Amino acid sequence: MEDIPEVVDIERVAFPSPWPPRAYRYEVSQNRLAHYFVARRQFAEEPQSQEDQGQDSLLQRVQRWAQGATAPERSVVGYCGFWMAADEAHISTIAVDPRYRRQGIGQLLLMTAIEQAVELRASIVSLEVRVSNLTAQEMYHKYGFRAVGLRARYYSDNREDAVIMTAPHLASAPYQRMLRKLREELVQRLSSNTLVTSQT
Ligand SMILES: CC(C)(COP(=O)(O)OP(=O)(O)OC[C@H]1O[C@@H](n2cnc3c(N)ncnc32)[C@H](O)[C@@H]1OP(=O)(O)O)[C@@H](O)C(=O)NCCC(=O)NCCS
Repeated sequence: MEDIPEVVDIERVAFPSPWPPRAYRYEVSQNRLAHYFVARRQFAEEPQSQEDQGQDSLLQRVQRWAQGATAPERSVVGYCGFWMAADEAHISTIAVDPRYRRQGIGQLLLMTAIEQAVELRASIVSLEVRVSNLTAQEMYHKYGFRAVGLRARYYSDNREDAVIMTAPHLASAPYQRMLRKLREELVQRLSSNTLVTSQT
């Protein structure tokens, strides 16, 4: 809940029809099908023995770290959410602060969503994307999404069509192999890079 103001700041520059804060408050506190998470600028583990680390979940460790971290360190640079219904995960939103794009954060968020969906036993991930949003489509293609249909005049601001994209057979060996390879490349890329702020 406390990340919503920063999420909404990114939302306003990322989307022509941004969701208001109350939509995110509803999603996080009321929608039992919803799963939302953020990417933070920095997360430094406290020095701890392996044993101590093993007792807390990563989420607990991140939350404890965030309480002590300075505002710029813990700032939100991206976010993503999906709805889980039966065996389908539907990505409801994904965005990265424009100052931090092209550094792998979008992929980190998408991969996290796919991995969480698989843990929740999803066999397919779906989403809608504007026909004109070739950047996002490119990213989805890389993660095995394919266009399976169109929703005519789906977006109310300019009546633009939405492409429906899905990544099926998430648990299959070939998909999992592809995901593992992408994860290795991404980890390499993220660990060799400190985040750079571009002046856009
Ligand atoms: C889509 C978005 C989340 C990508 O975030 P990002 O952090 O820049 O993404 P990454 O750096 O992980 O790049 C992911 C891939 O997307 C594609 N991509 C990203 N930016 C691109 C660009 N400007 N041109 C072409 N392809 C691009 C590439 O395939 C890239 O992989 P690569 O860097 O290995 O070539 C970001 O552009 C965004 O927030 N856009 C506005 C909101 C939005 O459109 N959300 C999607 C709604 S459906």
